[in-house]
Amino acid sequence: MKFRKLMMIPLASFAMALSACGSQPAAGEPAEQPEETETAETETAEPQETPAAEAEDKTLVVYFSATGTTKGVAENIAAIVSGDLYEITASEPYSEDDLNWHDDSSRTTHEQDDPSVRPAISSEPLDLTGYTTVFVGYPIWWGEEPRIMDTFVETYEFDGLTIIPFCTSGSSGIGRSGKNLEELAGSGTWLEGLRFSGSVSEADLKTWIDGLK
Ligand SMILES: Cc1cc2nc3c(=O)[nH]c(=O)nc-3n(C[C@H](O)[C@H](O)[C@H](O)COP(=O)(O)O)c2cc1C
Repeated sequence: MKFRKLMMIPLASFAMALSACGSQPAAGEPAEQPEETETAETETAEPQETPAAEAEDKTLVVYFSATGTTKGVAENIAAIVSGDLYEITASEPYSEDDLNWHDDSSRTTHEQDDPSVRPAISSEPLDLTGYTTVFVGYPIWWGEEPRIMDTFVETYEFDGLTIIPFCTSGSSGIGRSGKNLEELAGSGTWLEGLRFSGSVSEADLKTWIDGLK
């Protein structure tokens, strides 16, 4: 089931009622009855402009990071593009044992062996309203994207968005992972992704971003 995009709730406009104050009678004088009943003037505030979500041109950097490497790259990208960050976290966090790729029976070995596995995401639901570009980052696990990334792209609608995958790894390239994600998402315009080492410089990231079209 895909999350519905949340609608932005416009600020309510409040009308301010200004009432005229009558003068107090002098001591001993009967209270003067006003000849005409003064009607309280009501000044309606100008309607405030609804935030034009569709006119915004925001960039979001989404990432999953089990040991912090992709997180660092994602933060650098977000700083360069002045984008927002959104971390994908697993409902069942990955322990050190889970991440042991030397162990044939570890959780990640099982997950990566089975393309149908969809680990649950515990992050707050994402509202993509107002975004036009989404960077999507993850580590390479066994040459592919972690299965939780498959959960992510199958959860949301990317129509009208440009998606740019990026990954970190020990040495492997991005391989087919970007294409896998594009196929599983089934929506959005996906650009060619790129693999980075955890120590990629800000200058190199900037060159890559500037060259994206
Ligand atoms: C289960 C598992 C499988 C991995 N498989 C690969 C791989 O196939 N190729 C590679 O170069 N690095 C591999 N790595 C290393 C990670 O891709 C690399 O350390 C990455 O930068 C970690 O990112 P993170 O700290 O954001 O989780 C693997 C790591 C784990 C935990």
